[in-house]
Amino acid sequence: MCGIVGYVGTQSAQNVVVDGLRRLEYRGYDSAGVALVAQGQVASAKKEGKLANLEAELAAHPLPESGTGIGHTRWATHGAPNDVNAHPHVSRSGRVALVHNGIIENFAALRTELEAEGITALSETDTEVAAQLLGREVDNGADIAEAMRTVCRRLEGAFTLVAVDAQAPGRVVAARRNSPLVVGVGEGENFLGSDVAAFIEHTREAVELGQDQMVEITADSWTVTDFDGNPADATPYHVDWDLSAAQKDGFDWFMRKEIHEQPRALADTLLGRHAEDGSLTLDEIRMPVSELRSIQRIVIIGCGTAHYAGMVAKYAIEHWTRIPCEVELASEFRYRDPIVGPQTLVVAISQSGETADTLMAIRYAQEQGSKVLAICNTNGSTIPRESDAVIYTHAGPEIGVASTKGFLTQVLACYLLGLYLAQIKNTKFGDEIAAVVAELETMPAKVQEVLDAQQRVLDLAAAFADNPSVLFLGRHAGYPVALEGALKLKELAYIHAEGFAAGELKHGPIAVIDKDLPVFVVVPPRGRDMLHDKTVSNIQEIRARGAQTIVLAEADDDTVAPYADVLIGLPKVSTLLQPLVATVPLQLFACELATVKGHDVDQPRNLAKSVTVE
Ligand code: M6R
Repeated sequence: MCGIVGYVGTQSAQNVVVDGLRRLEYRGYDSAGVALVAQGQVASAKKEGKLANLEAELAAHPLPESGTGIGHTRWATHGAPNDVNAHPHVSRSGRVALVHNGIIENFAALRTELEAEGITALSETDTEVAAQLLGREVDNGADIAEAMRTVCRRLEGAFTLVAVDAQAPGRVVAARRNSPLVVGVGEGENFLGSDVAAFIEHTREAVELGQDQMVEITADSWTVTDFDGNPADATPYHVDWDLSAAQKDGFDWFMRKEIHEQPRALADTLLGRHAEDGSLTLDEIRMPVSELRSIQRIVIIGCGTAHYAGMVAKYAIEHWTRIPCEVELASEFRYRDPIVGPQTLVVAISQSGETADTLMAIRYAQEQGSKVLAICNTNGSTIPRESDAVIYTHAGPEIGVASTKGFLTQVLACYLLGLYLAQIKNTKFGDEIAAVVAELETMPAKVQEVLDAQQRVLDLAAAFADNPSVLFLGRHAGYPVALEGALKLKELAYIHAEGFAAGELKHGPIAVIDKDLPVFVVVPPRGRDMLHDKTVSNIQEIRARGAQTIVLAEADDDTVAPYADVLIGLPKVSTLLQPLVATVPLQLFACELATVKGHDVDQPRNLAKSVTVE
């Protein structure tokens, strides 16, 4: 939540910062602002609403030329999204400007302290106290870097802070605790960003900062310390994607582009992870095999779509490994005093690697002695850095707020983990594992088949644009697919949508069914007859009550065709892998329905891509 950019160099800082904010806007779009250091002063502009409003303001009232600047795009926590609460916040003397991502939990006490000195807040934000504290320090003679350290030592909660000082041109200082910050290393220029998208068009060399670290950048240097000023280690890395991956490439939305990238994302996530004989080679897992063999229980945690990926994984991992596997919302996990310990493997799924609920849950699990394995798409992010092991999904940057290729590659990475555990625990024969791996290799082409046949789904979305409510049903691995379909529709189309386990229907939800309600049903492949037939019975039950049925089933499933008002054909796959193909039409449906309704698909209301506050 919130995107942050910093720059020092010879280019126009305003242009670099605004371009960076455009690429980070998916992190929040309630307001945007920039501050530059020019002619011994801080010059700033900020505007409520999307970045376009700030750009119009800057066009109307240009800021002076400068090579030193910071910027912010906001997802509001404390205070309404308006001009006053927008960042940057400037200290009382006007000398310091600061942007912030996170929540300063002790801001009320700090605000009272400042008020006692006659420094009253202009905004309702928690951020402004940090700006005023910094200003107080520099006004009392501290250097901006020293002032930042002093302030950080007083703050509680989550923060990335980035600041400039009118009397320190050519320097930007920043600090992080529990919120993301990366350095972009250029030639004769350096950058800061909430993630690498902020500076990817200028450099692909990045440095990941650790917890409670501070960095100062000039045009020629970047210096990392801890909050006491001691030199600290930070990890440089090369970003393996470029600017083109962060552009829409002719699509109307990033989301639609990302849906279409799924065949490639799956292929890339599979690449190099198995040998020719089908055995898994997950060398990147930094945990000894002996330790993984001793795992007695698995707890998967994640939020939103990542949580649903975990639900899919449970079916596969338990089936292949016979290790009991639970799935839990990361936001609930640590608050219920869960029973975890050294023989529990906690699997944390997060596309961004920055979700605060998931991060806090893994810290809790580690305190209880559990090992944590992250499944993550973002190199250099906090969750994989703090985990004991990691499997990266290679989906490339996901910019649309609604997760699509993130989900499919998370599910795939979970399959790989399950098969790897089955291999080292000998719960499956090598040829059984090889057979699943061979089927996984066919999945990019099968997802492409679904994409090639999308017109039917797009037409359906147009036809249902005015429906106030939609239901999604599934059984077994199709149940989380139903939940994911409903989540996509809620977050993009802003209509009521619910996912249910098809077997639960008769225990209550069937009461909402009437003739106007569209019901999507994910039918398991015919190979598992009991599952398949029970789901077909469920379809008949809802049809008997007049609902319109949109059935996702194998394309040649003639047993289901008579009960489907609309049949969306899926390629033949095995039951456990069906989520990889069955989810895609639901993604397309939500994307198209939101488009038809005129919504901003990439930036749905009230949301942000990375939820970095609890
Ligand atoms: O970055 P993460 O995978 O940790 O994000 C978790 C959720 O916030 C995320 O999946 C969210 O539910 C998506 N907007 C759903 O499309």
